[in-house]
Amino acid sequence: MYMITDTHAHYDDEAFESDRDALLLSLQENGIGRLINVGASMRGCRDSYRLSMQYPFVYAALGVHPSETEQLTEEDMQWILQTAKDPKVVAIGEIGLDYHFPDDPPPEHQKQWFARQIALAKEAGLPLIIHSRDAERDTAAVLADEHAEECGGVMHCYSYSKESARDFLNLGLYFGIGGVLTFKNGRKLKEAAAFLPMDRILLETDCPYLAPEPYRGKRNCSLYLPYVVEELARIKKISEEEVIRITTENAKRLFALPD
Ligand code: NI
Repeated sequence: MYMITDTHAHYDDEAFESDRDALLLSLQENGIGRLINVGASMRGCRDSYRLSMQYPFVYAALGVHPSETEQLTEEDMQWILQTAKDPKVVAIGEIGLDYHFPDDPPPEHQKQWFARQIALAKEAGLPLIIHSRDAERDTAAVLADEHAEECGGVMHCYSYSKESARDFLNLGLYFGIGGVLTFKNGRKLKEAAAFLPMDRILLETDCPYLAPEPYRGKRNCSLYLPYVVEELARIKKISEEEVIRITTENAKRLFALPD
């Protein structure tokens, strides 16, 4: 019996302050086998690592989101590199580019820290968890320039077109798919999902954000992933069990999760 792997969660978020432990302890009996808690700031990295130490089924990704790079230092990079030696750390992320709000921070600054953290991932021997919003061309360019194919990774919360997916497939990347797939206005992602090979798709929540229908707008958590599984099974014309089996195998392969 395969269980769902949530490859992108933020249980360190204050949205889980009141019930974090109870919620995490309820996941396995509800079919969520493992999850990766993803750091977005240095504080988030420390909290993600702590959660991975506390729960055997929680793994950590360490990295700094483009919008949080303003105060980053080389000392922070060294902390990540040292901490990443722990086998519970399975990826560097989330890192990338976000041009949604202009100059927040400036693109050149974002690109510099994106490249720096790709180099870090290669040094640590870990795959990337990539955040990319309204920055498609620059994301592909930095990934190619920095030879991201050497460490691999996932385009988290994939939001670009089916046509663009080809470029990221050619870079050897996986594609993180979550609640947006169930949205009534999610046609672009449904088309991309139909096009993507099943062996490159990972399930993710990005919780507390992006809850699927019928919980859209509410606090998201891994327990809602079956709604994404249902929609992906419909689009790919395979069983829900197959969706869970294949996406969990994909996660095991990319993040070298133990059996
Ligand atoms: Ni995230």
